[in-house]
Amino acid sequence: MLSTKGLRATVDDQRKRMGSVFTIRFFGLKLTFLVGPEILSHFYQGVESEISHGNMLDFMVPMFGKEVGYGVDFTTRYEQIRFYSDALTRPSKLRVHVDPMIQEIEDYLAKWGQDGIIDLKYEFSMLLMLISSRCLLGKEVRNKMFDEIHTLFNELDNGMRLSSVMFPYAPIPVNRRRDRAHSKLSEIFTEIEDVLQSLIDSKYKNGRSTTEREVTGMIMLLLFGGKHTSTVASTWTGAHLLSSAKSLTAVVEEQKQIIQKYGDRVDYNVLSEMNTLHCSIKEALRMHPPAAINFRKVHKNFTVKTKEGHEYEIPRGHTVASPILFNSNLPHIYKDPDVYDPSRFGRERQEDKFGGKFTYAAFSCGRHTCVGEAYTYMQIKVIWSHLLRNFELKLISPFPETDWGKLVPEPKGKVMVSYKRQLLPST
Ligand code: HEM
Repeated sequence: MLSTKGLRATVDDQRKRMGSVFTIRFFGLKLTFLVGPEILSHFYQGVESEISHGNMLDFMVPMFGKEVGYGVDFTTRYEQIRFYSDALTRPSKLRVHVDPMIQEIEDYLAKWGQDGIIDLKYEFSMLLMLISSRCLLGKEVRNKMFDEIHTLFNELDNGMRLSSVMFPYAPIPVNRRRDRAHSKLSEIFTEIEDVLQSLIDSKYKNGRSTTEREVTGMIMLLLFGGKHTSTVASTWTGAHLLSSAKSLTAVVEEQKQIIQKYGDRVDYNVLSEMNTLHCSIKEALRMHPPAAINFRKVHKNFTVKTKEGHEYEIPRGHTVASPILFNSNLPHIYKDPDVYDPSRFGRERQEDKFGGKFTYAAFSCGRHTCVGEAYTYMQIKVIWSHLLRNFELKLISPFPETDWGKLVPEPKGKVMVSYKRQLLPST
């Protein structure tokens, strides 16, 4: 009964019939939905022995290897997350990525003509592969083997098809291509000595250094996290901005003011002042969260209390689902949820705080919050601020539908945009 296409409608139907907590059977699983941010505290913050990913994400093991992520025990995975986090989340680490990102964007967009028509989704996919290779793998790798890595990476990406998620080890062509891509990427990354030095230098608490296979797996995982979700998020942001005159004017005006204050200079601090652009990306992710549902396996019974005051016990053995897509469209929290309105996150409204700390969950929450959140915003802000400052853009294809065929739902088909070079003046 659960088709991704009708996820919001399906969840709404069941909620109306059975309330905010209901169980359905799905491929032999007892799947219990927790609807609304008020009942998600244990889901996001419960300890690993009581609630965890279980085997829900095992399909990632052949993509990234059994030495990392969901191939290893929780303690090791937790330490690996610390390695990513050390390499990515601190402002001192983020700052160093801004200049290489800008350089990649300038070089890439220099190839565009004076005016023309492009497929935004394709351009962002290429650009983000370049930026990710440069920032996560280093200049050397980026220059030497971009084309090969890009092709192999697309094969790995195909491992996110529903068939591979359901049957990760079935001898089907798409799985064979994924496995070949994994082993070729491992070879490439092993040969390069200065790849993500901070991961290589990382040490587990017991003093053990990371192994070669761990580092290559972690890099693939990071590249995947960094590239694909940001491509989708940048494209949705563009499709919305170019379809809403009010929102487009707001981000353009913000750029003009920032240019007046700082001139051409764009660095970490300048990017931090781009609040309207930040909210525009956040709003696109509210409407199109790359992870539409988040799952956990229950290892110990727990109780939730809904906002209506009803209590439910969720038994051990159930799989629980937080329908992020549905929760991010609740009308008692988000006014006119189907309207793209970045100002809902502005200081005056702050709708993402209405339902407590689990209201906005595009990057997950609590124990498993995405380590790449700050990096993502920075990366997309660098791209969009550059586009807004240097081009006049118009969406010429219809607003894209959502392609639910992939695990990370993306804009369906091409997203055609016309461009004309135009330097934005300050106000
Ligand atoms: C639009 C961009 C992104 C979105 C929406 C997103 C979303 C998420 C979500 C929902 C989770 C947690 C899943 C769960 O709780 O089960 C997660 C985890 C993670 N993300 Fe992201 N992410 C994004 C970008 C990035 C980037 C840029 C990176 C790295 C460069 C990254 C690296 C990771 C890692 C390493 C994890 C943890 C995986 C683990 O638990 O082993 N993500 N992300």
